[in-house]
Amino acid sequence: MSISIYTYDAIIVGSGLAGCAAARELQNAGKKVAVITKLHPLRSHSGAAQGGVNAAFSDEDSVELHEYDTVKGSDYLADQDAVEFLCKNAPETIRWIEKMGAAFSRTPDGKIAQRPFGGQSSPRACYAKDRTGLTLLQTIYEQAYRVGVKFWDEWYVADLIYKDGKVSGVIAFNIRDMEMAIFNSKSVMFATGGYARSFKINSNAHANTGDGLSIVARHGLPLEDMEFVQFHPSGLSGNGVLISEAARGEGGKLFNSEGERFMERYAPNALELASRDVVSRAILNEIREGRGVGPRKDAVFIDVTHLGKDLIMERLPELRELAITFLGLDMIKEPILISATAHYSMGGIPVNIAGNVRKNNTEFVEGFYAAGECSCVSVHGANRLGANSVLEALLFGRYVGKTMVKEVDNIELRVATKEDANTALAEIDFMLNNNGNETVPVLREELQQCMTANAGAFRTNDTLEIAVAKVKELRKRFRNIRIKDKSNIFNTELQEAIEFGHMIDYSRFIVESAIARKESRGAHFREDFDTRDDENFLKHTMGYMNDNGDISLDYMDVTLGKHELKARTY
Ligand code: FUM
Repeated sequence: MSISIYTYDAIIVGSGLAGCAAARELQNAGKKVAVITKLHPLRSHSGAAQGGVNAAFSDEDSVELHEYDTVKGSDYLADQDAVEFLCKNAPETIRWIEKMGAAFSRTPDGKIAQRPFGGQSSPRACYAKDRTGLTLLQTIYEQAYRVGVKFWDEWYVADLIYKDGKVSGVIAFNIRDMEMAIFNSKSVMFATGGYARSFKINSNAHANTGDGLSIVARHGLPLEDMEFVQFHPSGLSGNGVLISEAARGEGGKLFNSEGERFMERYAPNALELASRDVVSRAILNEIREGRGVGPRKDAVFIDVTHLGKDLIMERLPELRELAITFLGLDMIKEPILISATAHYSMGGIPVNIAGNVRKNNTEFVEGFYAAGECSCVSVHGANRLGANSVLEALLFGRYVGKTMVKEVDNIELRVATKEDANTALAEIDFMLNNNGNETVPVLREELQQCMTANAGAFRTNDTLEIAVAKVKELRKRFRNIRIKDKSNIFNTELQEAIEFGHMIDYSRFIVESAIARKESRGAHFREDFDTRDDENFLKHTMGYMNDNGDISLDYMDVTLGKHELKARTY
């Protein structure tokens, strides 16, 4: 098979907010940069972020309060130096993206409007109606394109070139016609997004299959804090499609089948605006105890009718459309049905603040960077606050781009050879030609059902052991796969098979890391260890995978700071 070789100073994998922001910095500084993305950039999942992006702007707010809320929200697992960096640079990040053309909603006196979000001391989420992510993505993509970034749309990255502690490019194929190529480069940044697709009910795009994480893990590099998967309180009943926290931020109330505003029992002060982990568990608990609503009694009501048509149409028009489309319910006239949905991954590829990828607790990989949801810096710790992820992606994407500008000239290009593509080629060949009797849709359904049932918002040792056994079984059965489509043109069956391989590998990290963490912290709730245990578990999990898919775990210190450990109540 012929393989093209393309050479760049920097390769960015993924074209969401983090990827586009980094690429723009690099191109603007005169570096030759390419963005490789399996989608069109404007279909990246950053565009699905609805409710807002945090920055402490107002007179009632402060950077210190933003830091405090973020550290408390993280259940004290966030690294406080990274949180400080995030919160201090948030206001400038908003001004920067606004100057580049992002149109935020305004107050009557012309300031950027801000709405309350969960776990926050002050209205802090700057927003563009309920389409904030899309507005920002359109802006940053346009600006990256304008300065000349080369986008390789609908190219799938199948492997990383990693040798002798150094990264020197990626192997990718064109989804349109299976052209294989080596992208040889002094530096590579992964901005490949999240991985909630391994859960049956999730708010994620179909593309969020954790490709970047599993590619990294297969090279023996660590993944950090993978047990912390965020369940967003409000996914549309039945399919998990996101109904933004903005609905509660604007005043939406949650009710159970008895007409009770049940958050009064779980978070008497913050009510519906407690942190996401707290609200999600409250909803699921109401359902478990028989106070669910809807035909299957597996949802609760969110009611925004008291806000009135004008406010809903002005600030929540997309949410209204979604509820009409999927549930046939108009939130102007009636409450709608929601429940918790797998939404966000706090863990990921471990990096320092500059975006350098860790080889282990103390060493870094030369020429390799990550930012956005696929990375773990860690600003979210055990639970992320709403509207901090859009901020993280934009801010760290841009900043890591600047780091790469500084570092790339000191990196010597290791010239790639065709042999670098051997692993990826062998895997593709196997998928296309293996003549087994398993199919991806069946295996994927089993994985998603199992993860939701056993590694979801509530977990125990027993349920997690079931999940480990299932993931191991699926890994074996996956080697007995058969795909029908043997063609070179938009072979989505092949692509889904490769993606499923990634889903199995990172899911193993989730469940093994969760078994070992015998405490409850943030989004990781163990019914058999239902309190936080700072003495034994105030530490980051670092997981490493061997060639058999087995995981070994190590731990890394949390960077503490001025925000002292306290019991977390809302
Ligand atoms: O609820 C939302 O609008 C989601 C935002 C986020 O995850 O930050």
